[in-house]
Amino acid sequence: MEKSHRSAEATKRKSRASTSKDAIALLKADHRQVEDWFRQFKKARTQTRKGSLAEKICNALRVHMRIEEEIFYPAFLVATRETDLHHEAEVEHAGAKKLIADIEAMRPENEYYDAKVKVLSEMIKHHVKEEEQPGGMFAEARKSDMDLDDLGKRMKARKDQFEANANAAAPGIRGIASSLLDA
Ligand SMILES: [Fe+2]
Ligand SMILES: [Fe+2]
Repeated sequence: MEKSHRSAEATKRKSRASTSKDAIALLKADHRQVEDWFRQFKKARTQTRKGSLAEKICNALRVHMRIEEEIFYPAFLVATRETDLHHEAEVEHAGAKKLIADIEAMRPENEYYDAKVKVLSEMIKHHVKEEEQPGGMFAEARKSDMDLDDLGKRMKARKDQFEANANAAAPGIRGIASSLLDA
């Protein structure tokens, strides 16, 4: 009984994974990914490792905030008229972006690097809680008539586009950076 229940659950999970995520599932998956990288950063012992994790965190957060601001937040505002939740989220994004720009301009050797990443993790933790808690943006979005499947598809497409552009640009940027270092 227990076993068949478990395998039915596994089948359900599998079929869910093979279909596209709705908007909230997609955004929550991003949140979990970044939380995991912040945890790894805390345990990292070398500056190279810290630098590569911080780069992943900053890139992922930039893309995540872009798709929220371009697609999810405007649709949320139209559907719910919840201006307080919406504006607060945008202000929190603006704060996070400043800190991300600071981190990106720093090297992991900088005395303040760990502190900046820690404060960013705290800001993001607060912001994610605001989005995910009862009465927060995601709960209100679920109650509204937003087409979360369609928004999920659009956000996924936009995300893929940003990631493809970043991958295309990265070797060039790295090449320029290393040639500057070699000079
Ligand atoms: Fe988010
Ligand atoms: Fe957000």
